[in-house]
Amino acid sequence: MTRVGILISGGGSNMVALARDMTGDHPGRARLVIANDPGAGGLLKANALRIPTAVVDHRDFPKDRVGFEAALQAALEEARIEVVALAGFMRILTPAFTAKWAGRMLNIHPSLLPKYKGLHTHARVLEAGDARHGCTVHEVTADLDDGPILGQARMDVRPGDTPQTLAERLLPLEHRLYPLVLRRYLAGDRTPVMLDG
Ligand code: GAR
Repeated sequence: MTRVGILISGGGSNMVALARDMTGDHPGRARLVIANDPGAGGLLKANALRIPTAVVDHRDFPKDRVGFEAALQAALEEARIEVVALAGFMRILTPAFTAKWAGRMLNIHPSLLPKYKGLHTHARVLEAGDARHGCTVHEVTADLDDGPILGQARMDVRPGDTPQTLAERLLPLEHRLYPLVLRRYLAGDRTPVMLDG
C-alpha cells in the first residue's frame, strides 16, 4: 500500500474525495493530511475520517520558504509518506522541494491547463469568453501548474455563469477526476484520462 499524504489549505473537499476512495483494493491509503493554515476546514474532515493531521503554518515562517518546506518535509517523513497529493494547497513550492518529490507529487488545478495557470481561473475563463472550462490533474514540477498532464475533466460554460457558478459546477467534476487519476497513477498508469461533465 502506498502511503499518501494530502496537502490542503481550505475546505478539503478534494482531500475527502481522495481519502474516501482509498479503501479496499485501492493501491494507496491516506496516511496524513497537512494544512498550512490551522483554520483550514479540511482538518476537521480529516479528523472525522480518522486520518492523522498536521499543521505547518506558513505564518510561522515569515519570508522563509526553505524553513516552511523543511517543516513540511519533516512531517511527511515522520509519517513515511511516499506520494503527495496537493488538494487545494495554495502555497507555491520551491524547485528544491518539488525536485525531492519528482514523480511522486500530483496537483489538481481548476482550469484546462495549459490555459490559466495561477489564480482566478473561473473569472479568467469568463473574461476570455471560453465555451469550455474544466480541471486538470498533473504531476508537479518546478514550474507553477506545469508538469505532465494526467487527466482533465471538461464542462460547458453556460450563459449567465459567474465565477461562483463555475466553481460550484466544477468541484463535483474535480471529485470524480482526482480519485480516478490517483488510483491509476499509483497502479503505474500515467496515460491521461479525459472526462466530460
Ligand atoms: C479546488 O477547486 C482546487 O482545484 C483549487 O482549490 C479548490 C480547493 O477546494 N486549487 C487551486 O486553485 C490550486 N491552485 P477544496 O479545498 O474543497 O478541495
